[in-house]
Amino acid sequence: MGEVMDDDPTTPVRLAAYTRTDQTEILGDGDDPFGVAGTGLTFLPKDEHFGIRLAGRLVAHAGLLRLSLTVGDTPSEAMGVGGVAVAPDVRGRGLARRVVAAALTHARTQGPPNALLFCRPPLVPFYTHLGWHPVQAPVHVEQHDGPVLMPLHTMRTPLHEDADWPSGTVRLHSFPM
Ligand SMILES: CC(C)(COP(=O)(O)OP(=O)(O)OC[C@H]1O[C@@H](n2cnc3c(N)ncnc32)[C@H](O)[C@@H]1OP(=O)(O)O)[C@@H](O)C(=O)NCCC(=O)NCCS
Repeated sequence: MGEVMDDDPTTPVRLAAYTRTDQTEILGDGDDPFGVAGTGLTFLPKDEHFGIRLAGRLVAHAGLLRLSLTVGDTPSEAMGVGGVAVAPDVRGRGLARRVVAAALTHARTQGPPNALLFCRPPLVPFYTHLGWHPVQAPVHVEQHDGPVLMPLHTMRTPLHEDADWPSGTVRLHSFPM
């Protein structure tokens, strides 16, 4: 089998693991690097990880997690995207676009029709620019004491050409990612 040559240092790679130390390497060790602590929500770690290393330093990450949910009356699955992060000194160079695209390329091989993410209001234009669509319906997610209304914005993008998104309230059968 021929070796694939790729000299572009910004090509995303699959990460075998993604630890708190890895996240700190990208975003620093602040208390609330994603700005979501105010929601009081508990989030799930992601199962699969994609990253970009520049000169050995991890500078970008996107995580993936398979989700079970109900939209209206329709049970479904989605690929959850989370932990999207780019180191402050290398933002604005397309690294988030590339690492999210790598996660979505993998997500397309997993079966669920759509990918889903939660974000703060200032990031809605960013994900819209990357081709994601706001989910307007209320979204409920599990927490320790039962389901709560998700206060963040929910965005989705189709993973397959025939993927639709039924109307109706969304119920995530897990903690959010
Ligand atoms: C949000 C974040 C991931 C963006 O990373 P980035 O590497 O600067 O983004 P990119 O350079 O890949 O931007 C991709 C495109 O989106 C555009 N874009 C970036 N920010 C934007 C914004 N706020 N609104 C609209 N478009 C935006 C860029 O211009 C670029 O467009 P182009 O590819 O057509 O030239 C980064 O700022 C970050 O890590 N923030 C802190 C952590 C966080 O909040 N993560 C989100 C969790 S949901």
